[in-house]
Amino acid sequence: MNQAILELREKLDQALRNMASTAGLENLKVEYLGKKGSVTALLKNMGKLSAEEKKSFGREVNELKDYVMEAISRQTAALQEQELQRELNAVEAFDMSVPPVLDRGSYHPITLVQRKCEEVFRSMGFTVEDYSEIVTDYECFEALNIPPFHPARDMQDTYYLDNGQLLKTHTSAAQNAIYKKYRDALINEGKPIKAVFPSRCFRNEATDACHENTFFQMEGVMVGEDISIANLIYFMKTMLSEVFDNYGLKVRLRPGFFPFVEPGFELDISCQICGGKGCPSCKHSGWLELCPCGMIHPNVLREGGIDPEKYSGFAFGLGLTRLAMMKYGIKDIRDLNSGSLAALAQFTDDK
Ligand code: DAH
Repeated sequence: MNQAILELREKLDQALRNMASTAGLENLKVEYLGKKGSVTALLKNMGKLSAEEKKSFGREVNELKDYVMEAISRQTAALQEQELQRELNAVEAFDMSVPPVLDRGSYHPITLVQRKCEEVFRSMGFTVEDYSEIVTDYECFEALNIPPFHPARDMQDTYYLDNGQLLKTHTSAAQNAIYKKYRDALINEGKPIKAVFPSRCFRNEATDACHENTFFQMEGVMVGEDISIANLIYFMKTMLSEVFDNYGLKVRLRPGFFPFVEPGFELDISCQICGGKGCPSCKHSGWLELCPCGMIHPNVLREGGIDPEKYSGFAFGLGLTRLAMMKYGIKDIRDLNSGSLAALAQFTDDK
């Protein structure tokens, strides 16, 4: 065997014997087989050799390469095994009784209040309805006593689609379909219509701490014979008391204008942060605006195929986003869409 090759082989054997880390082995590999490595350097002298010598030298260099590769990978495997053993020995006795920590994720605060409201209304005999987010002008406005060019349309800056439909600006847009769905049961079987319908809503509004172009509402309607404002107050009070776990919760109605109700109201609850004494959150009034509502306008009932002479009803449009912010003390609406799991995960209590 060529002398230089023999020497390299011995040098490698010795280096391997002293090698204690896998990182060192990587360096060794470069030292021998890298572009500027010692094996590569051997080839540089090939030019001086005769054709015959070249042949055997070339073969020996290739054998050396294989030898280096194999020796290093054998040593690497041995060292890895040793390192694993060392780690395993360092692990203390494993306690099988410790429960695993499973991160099951969490619900979004709006989902939590939505589910709570659905649960409360279901328990009071309401159905929970689903409805499209893309609706027609008729559903969103005309069926709700807001004809084209009515100034009330300015209250809601609307996203219109190219096909003439629009992104619903309020959950009231499903009212007409709900009346039509249940009016036969009302008229023929005397079953009152009791439904809630949560949904995302969209308005072209500048974003700030209290406004977003996308938000959640939950609409509710009850229609039957002799339904009055007393029923409206009762259901709203019960629902809000349960959502806020405050059974002495005070509510008050103030007049408010909405074309689809007559009379229309703003419903306020006593401030949950200061208990009604007055604080920055309630602008020192002790009250918080939460849920516009009213007695359904006769035109709206008529449009839904229900005779307003015989039947009456109430409707409300609960701001779910607002409700979540109040229940959980979230001061900036943008936090709800921030995607910050650390911020949003803290409200799920059944994790
Ligand atoms: N749809 C109204 C809005 O988003 C809220 C509303 C007011 C809904 C009064 C109602 C109601 O059902 O009776 O501005």
